[in-house]
Amino acid sequence: MQQLIGVARRLGQRSAGAWSWARGGVTVTGGNRGIACLAALSETHQILQKTCRDFANAELAPRARHHDREELYPAEQVRRLGELGLLSVAVKEEYGGSGLDYQAYAIGMEEVARGDAAVSIVMGVNNLFLGAVQQHGTEKQKQDFLVPYTQGEHIAFYALSEPGNGSDAGAASTTAKQEGDGYLLNGTKAWISNSKEASGGLVFATVDKALKHKGITAFLTPKDVEGLSIAKKESKMGMRASSTCQVVLEDVQVPSSRVLGAPGDGFKIAMQSLDCGRIGIAAQATGIAQAALELAVDYSQKRIAFGKQLSRMQLIQQKLAEMATRVETSRLLTWRAAWLKDNGMPITKEAAMAKLHASEAATYCAHQCIQVLGGMGYTTDLPAELYYRNARVTEIYEGTSEIQRIVIANAVLREFGRE
Ligand code: CAA
Repeated sequence: MQQLIGVARRLGQRSAGAWSWARGGVTVTGGNRGIACLAALSETHQILQKTCRDFANAELAPRARHHDREELYPAEQVRRLGELGLLSVAVKEEYGGSGLDYQAYAIGMEEVARGDAAVSIVMGVNNLFLGAVQQHGTEKQKQDFLVPYTQGEHIAFYALSEPGNGSDAGAASTTAKQEGDGYLLNGTKAWISNSKEASGGLVFATVDKALKHKGITAFLTPKDVEGLSIAKKESKMGMRASSTCQVVLEDVQVPSSRVLGAPGDGFKIAMQSLDCGRIGIAAQATGIAQAALELAVDYSQKRIAFGKQLSRMQLIQQKLAEMATRVETSRLLTWRAAWLKDNGMPITKEAAMAKLHASEAATYCAHQCIQVLGGMGYTTDLPAELYYRNARVTEIYEGTSEIQRIVIANAVLREFGRE
């Protein structure tokens, strides 16, 4: 399967730019499960999309309910993500990654999330971590913390939030005290996805709380070091197959060679990598919304009430129309942010817009899906309620909707010269 992505990439190189919506401005109707798509994907992206969709249909969706109910980590599915090259989509080939772009990442995340959103978190957090290491790591750090994490043999965590501060990322109270040629880390990180199964990750800690965000420093660390332990596993409303735990640090020694970037660079590293991460969460939310739309359409065509199919009733059509529109706008905003990233342009505002819109669309679509299905939507016989529970966190992690609105408003005010 890894080879398929290699084929996709080579095909894409031959046809680079020829099809792309963003590059060529071509407008056609795409074959997205019969839903008109204003963007014509490159050949690379089309092959990738089909590969991921087939994988999600065959191997993710059928197991999603079981993994959710049992809160089971989807180890086999994660192994397959690695084989497909989906754990390191935008990592250069020389480091073992797929060497694709953020558009490919958005496409892959959407399709995986459409099959099982909990599996897509593992993919999202690993790519978030690798993005930071690829951008800021030294060659040695890349060999130690990029190469082993690209193909599923190891996965990573990204430890920014704390029990006392989630949104206010600059207020980290985990400390990094300089000692000899290194640092001693102490504190507790909270809501850390992947941490139970991960082999290592990125920990943000402050070298001096008085410096506020300018004291935050990013440390690369394996998980099996003395003093690092995984505590409370959260019991969650949704995304139950993915682990979310506390990471406790008690006198964890980290050599200076494992500081990512320079001491004090951590806040900017976090913000830059979260900009990219938000493209991933937007794509994940779009995948959940798409799945909810498909279920609602299918059910409305089969269910007869008042002597006709639900899909023939205008109040149901109104819901389907609104859902479909929000799915499309989510996808377009997400692809726009990915395209800007791939073309070296700023994405802070655009990634926040995509995440804000798509996550609220996912909740909306899952909610409306339950309405269309009525009583059946409220049971666990059909996945509408699972979509709803999974959608909800996309409005919370990697920056709540409220934080996205702050980021967008700040950017807009700057654009108008009214900071
Ligand atoms: N890129 C680069 N630099 C940035 C930046 C960005 N996107 N955003 C801000 N900065 C820089 C600013 O330019 C500023 O630089 P100077 O010090 O040189 O002036 C500095 O960072 C501080 O900026 P702000 O004053 O805007 O920072 P703030 O303290 O007001 O916070 C915030 C801004 C947007 C609220 C930010 O704290 C934030 O995004 N919070 C949300 C955190 C978050 O998303 N947490 C999710 C946890 S990770 C997760 O969920 C992963 C998981 O396991 C699933």
